[in-house]
Amino acid sequence: MNIAVYDIREDEKLVFRRIEQESEISFQYIKDHLTVDTVSKAAKSDGIAVLGHNMIGEDILKRMAEMGVCNLATRTVGYNHIDLQAAARHGIRVCNSQYGPHGVADFTVMLMLMSLRKYKQALFRANVNDYSLKGLQGREMKDMVIGIIGSGNIGAQVIHNLAGFGCRILVYDTRVNPAIENAVEYTSLDELYSKSDIISLHVPLLDGTRQMINCQSIAKMKKGVILINCARGELMNIADIIEAIESERIGALALDVFENEEGIYHFDRRTDIITNRDMAYLRQFPNVTMTQHIAFYTDSAVDDMVSISVRALYDLHIGSAPLNRLV
Ligand code: COI
Repeated sequence: MNIAVYDIREDEKLVFRRIEQESEISFQYIKDHLTVDTVSKAAKSDGIAVLGHNMIGEDILKRMAEMGVCNLATRTVGYNHIDLQAAARHGIRVCNSQYGPHGVADFTVMLMLMSLRKYKQALFRANVNDYSLKGLQGREMKDMVIGIIGSGNIGAQVIHNLAGFGCRILVYDTRVNPAIENAVEYTSLDELYSKSDIISLHVPLLDGTRQMINCQSIAKMKKGVILINCARGELMNIADIIEAIESERIGALALDVFENEEGIYHFDRRTDIITNRDMAYLRQFPNVTMTQHIAFYTDSAVDDMVSISVRALYDLHIGSAPLNRLV
């Protein structure tokens, strides 16, 4: 079996090479994104593996079907970059990947602590030998009410991670997760908004969650709330977020994701003109911490992302049912 791997990263190659040695699967590494112009590079393959850097829409999926390459896997958990309805129309089978929730959950807690202890400002000051205390007084986790929106794998792991801190945890989800039900209080979204000192998002990007953090929801939150987003940038209305930072309704913000981050995050753009104004503007606030979509990026997660997506393509190829089939 041969798999065409688009957007290949050097660190992933180690995992692909190991799979190559242990199986009869071979890989064709392609540095480009999968687009209408590059899709023909996969013409001789039995399946395509992508990352989440660009939209895989009808035009690409139609070309895949015409080429007879009908299996597609994304090496990511999120699949909002793939038009699943178009895939179904063209008979393209699509799978996503999975990885342990620890990497993102650990990173989330780190961002909570960094925001609470004003670490960005402390770090910047120390870099210029300013060791003053003024303005750096923090708060303690034990005094916090933490609102977790989304109690799937990652949200639940954040809740486990928080167990030793002694904070009160409120959770909102449309489904109760039995694994954490006894350790937390499930509440309505409005109650979570009004009572939480820190709110962290762990929901997928769907029509119902897009821009769920906006001026209306922010108005329901405590003044000075700390918001953490390690999920998807589009969960937030960024103009409303900026407004709330400027008016100091939001006390601190930590984002590992950003609306329209594609083509910026994960690339070296040092000498380029970057036109995402909101990204540049928000980054300069002392109480805003922004990282380049790296919460997921651990050795264990990269191994899982590659091997689980390859396994899915293999299962589709031999006609058995992969666990992560989306359409
Ligand atoms: C995912 O797996 O959905 C992620 O967010 C990480 C990816 C963009 C590499």
